Amino acid sequence: MTIPEVQLSLDGIRKSFPGKGGPVPVLDGLSFDIYERDFVSIIGPSGCGKTTVFNVIAGLLEPDGGTMTFRGEVVPGLQGRVGYMMQKDLLFPWRTVLQNVMLGLEMKGVDRAQALDTAREYLATFGLSGFENAYPKTLSGGMRQRAALIRTLIMDPDILLLDEPFSALDYQTRLYLEGILLDAVETFHKTVVLVTHDIDEAVALSKRVVVLGNRPTTVKSVHEIGLDARSPIGARSDPRFSDYFHTLCGELEIQTRQRAA
Ligand SMILES: Nc1ncnc2c1ncn2[C@@H]1O[C@H](COP(=O)(O)OP(=O)(O)OP(=O)(O)O)[C@@H](O)[C@H]1O
Ligand SMILES: [Mg+2]
Repeated sequence: MTIPEVQLSLDGIRKSFPGKGGPVPVLDGLSFDIYERDFVSIIGPSGCGKTTVFNVIAGLLEPDGGTMTFRGEVVPGLQGRVGYMMQKDLLFPWRTVLQNVMLGLEMKGVDRAQALDTAREYLATFGLSGFENAYPKTLSGGMRQRAALIRTLIMDPDILLLDEPFSALDYQTRLYLEGILLDAVETFHKTVVLVTHDIDEAVALSKRVVVLGNRPTTVKSVHEIGLDARSPIGARSDPRFSDYFHTLCGELEIQTRQRAA
């Protein structure tokens, strides 16, 4: 078996924000590794600092301490190397679907005819052909998320950071988009880091799940997910699925009320 190579390493990352009574610590020495072509989910209580971790990785926030290493080189952040899909899809309402997905290529100075070809190819792959000239407000939530995913992928980043990309969608649409994401990651050989509130999504999609504790947060545990199926429904049908699910619920200390018989 080949040992996967570490792509990105976070070591002791700390971050505080100013509060009324002094600095409020959020990240309290966070350490974990992401491998080449990994699919890692990050789960943890609301407000523990998951989006903050992404902002630090993306280079939008400077950490107070700790080290980030990308392919063996210490870096302050991964500006220009990550595709970051933020918690809200943030498509520009005044731009059409085509204009939205081409934005990054335009900024990069890619030739317009080539950018158009690439954009049309992605739109076809994601089932959005025919909606090139539609504005975001006229699309369903699932279509908007697909357009936002394309906008993230089209820049051919080394790592995709996806912050709860499917949380606002109904279950059926979510399963569909999870499948599209897995296929795209396979086709384009991407590394994915996914923040999700949904434990079953984390188990179904990931190779590994990083569990964060309450704020100020550290890594509570890392779980290898050994499901063979690379499809959202296949994974959920695996007999080992519920063991992983229950282990992660336990890690998050999720209590369910038992109804008296
Ligand atoms: N720019 C900022 N200035 C001040 N405080 C911030 C800032 N960004 C985040 N915080 C605080 O840091 C903490 C962690 O926020 P963050 O958005 O990272 O949490 P999260 O785990 O992504 O939450 P959720 O699951 O609800 O999306 C929160 O208490 C938040 O108020
Ligand atoms: Mg968040």
